[in-house]
Amino acid sequence: MTAPKKLFIKTYGCQMNVYDSERMAEALGGQGYEQTATAEDADMILLNTCHIREKAAEKVYSELGRYKGLKADKPDLKIGVAGCVAQAEGQEIMRRQPMVDLVVGPQSYHRLPEMEARVSQGDKALDTDFPEEDKFERLKSRPKAARGPTAFLTVQEGCDKFCAFCVVPYTRGAEVSRPAARILDEARDLVERGVREITLLGQNVNAYHGAGPDGSDYTLARLIWDLDKVDGLERIRFTTSHPNDMTDDLIEAHGTCAKLMPYLHLPVQSGSDRILKRMNRSHTAESYLALIERIRAARPDILMSGDFIVGFPEETEADFQATLDLIEAVEYGYAYSFKYSARPGTPAAERAEVDAAEADDRLQRLQALITRQQRDIQQSMVGRTVNVLFEKPGRFEGQMVGKSDYLHAVHVTDATLSAGQIAPVRIVEAGANSLAGVLA
Ligand code: SAH
Ligand code: SF4
Ligand code: F3S
Repeated sequence: MTAPKKLFIKTYGCQMNVYDSERMAEALGGQGYEQTATAEDADMILLNTCHIREKAAEKVYSELGRYKGLKADKPDLKIGVAGCVAQAEGQEIMRRQPMVDLVVGPQSYHRLPEMEARVSQGDKALDTDFPEEDKFERLKSRPKAARGPTAFLTVQEGCDKFCAFCVVPYTRGAEVSRPAARILDEARDLVERGVREITLLGQNVNAYHGAGPDGSDYTLARLIWDLDKVDGLERIRFTTSHPNDMTDDLIEAHGTCAKLMPYLHLPVQSGSDRILKRMNRSHTAESYLALIERIRAARPDILMSGDFIVGFPEETEADFQATLDLIEAVEYGYAYSFKYSARPGTPAAERAEVDAAEADDRLQRLQALITRQQRDIQQSMVGRTVNVLFEKPGRFEGQMVGKSDYLHAVHVTDATLSAGQIAPVRIVEAGANSLAGVLA
């Protein structure tokens, strides 16, 4: 038997990339690779990249630069680039960094073993196709190894929305939903391996419309109700949703499905109708607020999270103020905010940009408001009893950390606790990034 080759994967970007990296590691496991945590040990380095903002994309090249010395010391080392930069730039990556051996786009991961075989012969391999075959089916997880209590599960990929700023419809392609039966099989397998919470993933997850077990078109809500019946699965989450795809049955499920957690990430991007229109978002600030009202009527304690872009082309101070007003109205438990970054090939990239210093200033003001809301909501948890799924030991002796139903990080010091356990916890203190509690 030959010693296993070592694979180092570095993952950037969204949760979907995290899921994909796991699948790629499994696929290459069949080629005799086992994962290592350090690039220095590796026989193959794979960067799973993100193209969403310029900074994200440029990280890839600075990281590749750092591997130059490694490759000089170990000529057999193979270097691959996967993910959304691979899809967007393809051959250009090998031109800018000739030491790259392999470039693979997100829709071709099931072809990795065959690409690896070519690369190990000394050839280069490039695949950025959008093939017809079912990638997920061919990427089926092989090892039945035990795993932690939480997992991601991709149910939908790609996007047909074409927001004017966004690369995802180009890097991930058209919206595709996996059949429900396959998702349910994968969920049962995860549960057998110790998983208690599954987060369903999709760039547009609530647009899910895969075939149901009976062949009919499913909705995300119907899929969630089927998952609800899986014994041993205790918690269901999903991300990321688009406001226009929040169907009635999904809103209702938030009120009636006990396993569906009271947390919803629902990006709005801006509170100005003028900017939303230029973003091609197809909702207004008012329709978004009305939607949240309906969601909160179904599940009053739901914790809302969102995404914001500041400094989108032509955004005025008044437009920005409308965004702050919307944030005031919603009260977010979490929010992710970004300064607009022009992406090549997107419609907005052609437009006049907002002054960079002005955009920086707006981002700071927006983040200050969000931080205040986040803190207030965390503070309001003090004295309440919440369920926590414990995931791993904390920094201190006897401490365990986990997530509440609302996705707040919670730590408890109690030697009887173990990973995978769900227990009611009374919150006693709110810190900057986590809550402290005692078993109730
Ligand atoms: N599918 C999700 C989000 C995908 S990208 C949705 O529809 O909301 C994650 C976030 O990155 C977006 O919500 C947006 O806020 C941000 N983003 C996307 N493109 C961007 C760009 N060009 N510049 C700055 N932020 C961007
Ligand atoms: Fe990008 Fe989301 Fe808009 Fe799709 S809906 S184009 S993924 S921001
Ligand atoms: Fe980035 Fe691609 Fe995800 S661009 S955010 S890794 S879909």
